[in-house]
Amino acid sequence: MNKSFGNDDPGLERAIGELYQPEDDVLREIRERARTAGLPEIQVAALDSRHLEVLVRLTGVRKAVEIGTLAGYSGVSIVRGLQPDGVLYTLEYEKKHAEVAAESFRRAGVSARVRQLVGSALDLLPALSKEGPFDFCFIDADKESYDRYLDWAAANLRPGGVVAGDNAFLFGELKEPLGSGSSPAARAMYAFHRRLATSGEFRATVLPTGEGLAVGVKL
Ligand code: SAH
Ligand code: DHB
Ligand code: MG
Repeated sequence: MNKSFGNDDPGLERAIGELYQPEDDVLREIRERARTAGLPEIQVAALDSRHLEVLVRLTGVRKAVEIGTLAGYSGVSIVRGLQPDGVLYTLEYEKKHAEVAAESFRRAGVSARVRQLVGSALDLLPALSKEGPFDFCFIDADKESYDRYLDWAAANLRPGGVVAGDNAFLFGELKEPLGSGSSPAARAMYAFHRRLATSGEFRATVLPTGEGLAVGVKL
């Protein structure tokens, strides 16, 4: 018998969260301050922030990129996993989000290790290439562009570098048969998965978190 993909036991989820404590006071304060500032509550789940830190830590990341900063919740987790001399470049389109995030990085004591880039990611990424190659790239901005963000990651990660994509299930919109969705986001997400899974450029999987966390190692 094949074992199931994911877990749907809310009691177990709660108990794991209580034991592993993925959200400390710094992350909780960021989440609350972002909500008070009127930002959308779309940061990664607490346990996904821990997944990011652990992925970054186990890859020995020195240079990381995040596409979609919001209030810095996932960004703080990525920085926590970096090597001591590591740097996170994080890209955000909305000035207000970037300002809230700057305060988050300051409060977390990691500002010196974060470079915030403000503007549309597709405009900013070409110039960022000169700082590469990168060890880690977290994709979490507009879903319509996930395939183009993966194009950039494929070209700018070192071999052995890791790409991670949040919302890999596209909020329930990704359904079988894969590729049948016709919205721009569904088409981009399918192209993203197809390249990760079948291009031969990556060894990849999808971690069945609530949102789906696609993870690929560049070959
Ligand atoms: N990674 C964050 C959540 C990001 S939410 C966390 O988990 O804490 C997605 C963010 O991407 C939003 O702040 C949104 O403003 C930003 N965004 C959307 N389209 C963008 C684009 N084209 N370029 C850069 N940022 C974009
Ligand atoms: C949205 C974006 C995200 O990255 C996310 O994790 C949840 C929601 C959104 O645009 O609605
Ligand atoms: Mg997301």
